[in-house]
Amino acid sequence: MRRRSPPSETVRLAALILALWPSLAAADFFTLKGHGGPVTGIAVAPDERIATASFDTSVGLWTGDDPRWFDGHEAAVTDVVFAGGTLVSASDDFTLRLWPEGTVLGRHGGKVAALAAIPGLVASASWDGTVGLWPLDGRAPKRLHGHEDGVNTVAFSPDGRRLWSGGKDGTLREWDVATGAQRRVILRHGFGINRIVPARDGRWLAYGAVDGVTRVIDPETGALLHDFTLDRRPILAMALAPDGRRLAVGDGQGYIMVLDTETWRIVRDFRATLKGPVWALAYSRDGRNLHAGGLDSAMYSWPVDELAEAPKMVTPARASATADNGERIFVGRCSICHTLTPDSGRRAGPTLHGLFGRRAGTVADYRYSVAVARSGIVWTEESVSALFDEGPDSYIPGTKMPTQRITNPADRADLIAYLRRATAPTEDR
Ligand code: HEC
Repeated sequence: MRRRSPPSETVRLAALILALWPSLAAADFFTLKGHGGPVTGIAVAPDERIATASFDTSVGLWTGDDPRWFDGHEAAVTDVVFAGGTLVSASDDFTLRLWPEGTVLGRHGGKVAALAAIPGLVASASWDGTVGLWPLDGRAPKRLHGHEDGVNTVAFSPDGRRLWSGGKDGTLREWDVATGAQRRVILRHGFGINRIVPARDGRWLAYGAVDGVTRVIDPETGALLHDFTLDRRPILAMALAPDGRRLAVGDGQGYIMVLDTETWRIVRDFRATLKGPVWALAYSRDGRNLHAGGLDSAMYSWPVDELAEAPKMVTPARASATADNGERIFVGRCSICHTLTPDSGRRAGPTLHGLFGRRAGTVADYRYSVAVARSGIVWTEESVSALFDEGPDSYIPGTKMPTQRITNPADRADLIAYLRRATAPTEDR
């Protein structure tokens, strides 16, 4: 079920739009809804279509607010890019895929954390410690070795001849794209480098790090040009407007800072989420709108420079004030991946609707691992309790459900009592 903005949201937006009317048209401020988990990456195509990467393991490709869904990754999708007109995604499942076909463009030995692209060539940063260069014309790929730990980010120089990478080893490195050779270590920051964004003319390089550092350096010498480090960490997202005049920075505490790259002043700085980090940022082609993703399953887009009031992303489900311990555990530990409605809602796991008495691996709209599909388990109070007493990885070896245990028997009993009530098919309630 794909939904447009639900009524409450629409009412809030309408109120805001009316307050700003006639300076803003309704289309300036929009949300893209339909993912079943946090939005972790955003890319804008030359023709303005928007691609979204999600924790729910799918890629969305949006024409207006009408999505096409690309399923094929076996774990969270971490990033998306357009290489010319070709859409490429990266995932925790170690692969890069081409869409709409879903064919594997490349495979790493660890999570693929980020992508960069120029027409005909995609670069990947992987936690296997290498950078991948993957030509789209069938030429042989290259793997670049040099980082001493996982690589978090990659960026091409504007002429496409050089590639910059940053990683958990705290270094920022420069590579020769044609040969794949490392040219030099530009900087040793000490803390992990999460994001790199070069100027449109290549004259500066901005980077964001785990310790909250946001700096602009000279790529030739590594010399510090500007420092925008605030007391917020880690830096998780950065985006440059197409005209190069605005640089947006998102962090783990949910703030977005927008910099003017001519005067090097902060033009906006606001808390964009009620809870959780800003994971993804991208500018629209005309540079007016900033698209943002975080813990909420929607992508938000705002004409940030023009807004009188700082916009906010909505927080996902919160337990109601009257929630008991079981509901709190479900909301806090399960709801990010599981719905309780008949439809699985594109979350990372299957709906738990009608769970008790059901055979494992049988929700029709969900693709299970072989381990769960063949487990022969029937979900009862005992088997659900055992699943979290032992942990999914030991109760069903090979499952996709991440390692997690609920060791306190009273907590397991409360969770099961809540699930009994909340998963019962409607006619039984
Ligand atoms: C990070 C995502 C994630 C979280 C958090 C999570 N699950 Fe899961 N869960 C999954 C995935 C993915 C599967 C499917 C596993 C497979 O196919 O191997 C699954 C499967 C299940 C199943 C089997 C369903 C079936 O149809 O056979 C149950 C039961 C379950 N989860 C309960 C829970 C409960 C209860 C919690 C909270 C305590 C929870 N899960 C938290 C991802 C998650």
